[in-house]
Amino acid sequence: MSIVINKKKDIFLLNTRSVSYAFGIDDQGLIRHLYWGKKIDSVEDFEMPVLTEVSTNDPVFEITREEFPVYGGLRYKEHCLRVVFADGTREIVYQYCGYETDRTEEYEELIIRLKDVRYDFDMNLHYRIYEDYDLMERSVTVKNGTAQRIQIEKLHSGQFHIPYEGLNFSNVHGHWGAEQQRFTQKVSYGKIVIENRRGISTHNHNPYFILDRNATETSGDVYFGALRMSGNFSGVIEQTQYGETLAQIGLNSHDFMMELEPGEEFEAPAVICGYSESGFETMSRNLHHFALKNILREGYRPVLYNSWEATGFNVNSREQIKLAKKAREIGAELFVLDDGWFGERHGIDNGLGDWYVNESKFPNGLDELISEVKALDMKFGIWVEPEMVNPKAQLYQSHPDWIYHFETRTSDTSRGQYVLNMGKKEVQDFVYEMLDNLLTEYEIDYIKWDANRPISQPGIRRDIWYTHIEAVYEIVRKLKKKHPQVLFEACASGGGRIDYGILGIFDDFWTSDNTDAYDRLYIQDAYSYIYPIKAMRAWVTDCPNFLSGREIPLRFRYHSAMMGTLGIGCNILKFTEEEENLSKEMICRYKEIRPIVQEGDFYRLENPSENRYFLYEYLKGDQGLIFAFLPQSRVGHRGTTIRLRGLEENAVYTLKTEFGEITKSGNYLMNFGMNLSLTGDYASIIIPFEKKNRE
Ligand code: GLA
Repeated sequence: MSIVINKKKDIFLLNTRSVSYAFGIDDQGLIRHLYWGKKIDSVEDFEMPVLTEVSTNDPVFEITREEFPVYGGLRYKEHCLRVVFADGTREIVYQYCGYETDRTEEYEELIIRLKDVRYDFDMNLHYRIYEDYDLMERSVTVKNGTAQRIQIEKLHSGQFHIPYEGLNFSNVHGHWGAEQQRFTQKVSYGKIVIENRRGISTHNHNPYFILDRNATETSGDVYFGALRMSGNFSGVIEQTQYGETLAQIGLNSHDFMMELEPGEEFEAPAVICGYSESGFETMSRNLHHFALKNILREGYRPVLYNSWEATGFNVNSREQIKLAKKAREIGAELFVLDDGWFGERHGIDNGLGDWYVNESKFPNGLDELISEVKALDMKFGIWVEPEMVNPKAQLYQSHPDWIYHFETRTSDTSRGQYVLNMGKKEVQDFVYEMLDNLLTEYEIDYIKWDANRPISQPGIRRDIWYTHIEAVYEIVRKLKKKHPQVLFEACASGGGRIDYGILGIFDDFWTSDNTDAYDRLYIQDAYSYIYPIKAMRAWVTDCPNFLSGREIPLRFRYHSAMMGTLGIGCNILKFTEEEENLSKEMICRYKEIRPIVQEGDFYRLENPSENRYFLYEYLKGDQGLIFAFLPQSRVGHRGTTIRLRGLEENAVYTLKTEFGEITKSGNYLMNFGMNLSLTGDYASIIIPFEKKNRE
């Protein structure tokens, strides 16, 4: 049983495999947090402490660990909910109205029912317990039962209480071409805020929190939560004056207000959260397993070829067919035609919105290319940017009011384009129909859905920071229902939309426009903390790299990209024979190891050397892989020691290195380890290993 209730004391204990979460209802009807951490079995041990005021300047609400602090009363800390009732009252006073439990195949659920004492306004706190994954999901639904409209100014799905001070907070920072730069900082008195105000969620920060007590990969307490939404978010971490740390993450209240009509209900974006007593590895593992089994679409992701870096906007049927043939020869399974195939799209300033095939580039239509691709036994994918329009496009000329704007202001362009107001029903219908027609008319297996600018001049509605992405989600859901064979890739100028919201809607995710194989090691490492490897698209591209100007050997570039879902973005028509042969070898190898890479357990291994090795392990059943990279050797002769993890201590494993086979016990490989010495710049190696069957 995941939900244990002490009815006498009104205390709820939520258990997963190794974690407990407890809260209760006190004699004043407040929902008070009691515990989050290592599993405690006996609900009887928990008591609800009596509330006593410290001083008139430290009101009890400030000290009380509330599960869902609302705005009102003597509360000054971060609250989860602030509404304005029709008469202007901005305070909520809730009463506890009981609980319900539910069970599905995936989770057990506890629902705590709250109601305002004066207004017909319901707040239901949902706790979904995913026992096997050691994870819980919190969300809140609110319902307006009054006869008038209510305004929601802030709504987060719950407060998290961590009973320690001096924690480390980590997240990522970044910008276009430099997403997923991991950082860690000490939490002290005051607040840390991460947020997004752009409507395109994640170039700068990512909607999750990780709080640890000097944890390593394999030891120490880690508390974490990830938001299931790609709109504007804010996350607040606060070390209070009363010996604990608070965390919240949810819809950003900046420029936000949502109206709830009489009878209307709204579910706030959920937070998937957990605790690990054994470091970051367990956190990542639980999230990865959960995402693989409960969120992501099943099946391995194909090796793709994308022509963007090779041809830019300058696409035409002849050239793309040549590329497709070569892509097939080296082993690609999916050919993706990127930007430039439609309307008058010759650069960034025209075409978006005019989704008809450009006849001068494709004189015989798209079918010519598609049938060639199909004849080559490859899948066909195509790029679109449906939320956008160029001012010069016919779509804008006929519907200038379809973009976000204020009536009396000029909207800003960015990358030469405007953002369509996805809140408008006619815009939603246009986008859906355009894509539905495209997928119906052509044999398309894969859509790369891009979004290349943030939202500005949002118009008078202040809920678009949420409703925009909800409309996108809904269109993709509908399209997938009608065209279930089509895979959807989420891209937003690279990795601008990667979060646990989009993960449940799309199938493939473009990690970053930065395809420099060395930069990618950092990006991919940070990405893996929260997101599963199957959701990490990685391409091999040409050198010198267009962003870094760096020259990196092709083998290293392949190895780096083979850490995720492999794609190729080179101008393969210019490959030398040697490059072509290496590509064939690498892609063939990737297909062999793909099940382990895309669905295996992933380990960020320790590097005990002074040389900066990047060491990773993948393990699936009896088979595993080691990926080792040495971008630059500082002390050439000094190697490293690879200590594997997750093996069976008493089993025997065989590692196939370039220098011959090594056979050792799991115990030995995990503790003594294996010495590895790479030399030179951009050295890399993939070492497969396998558990030996007992004779
Ligand atoms: C964005 C994407 C790229 C490419 C271009 C096309 O930058 O991230 O992969 O599709 O748009 O314009």
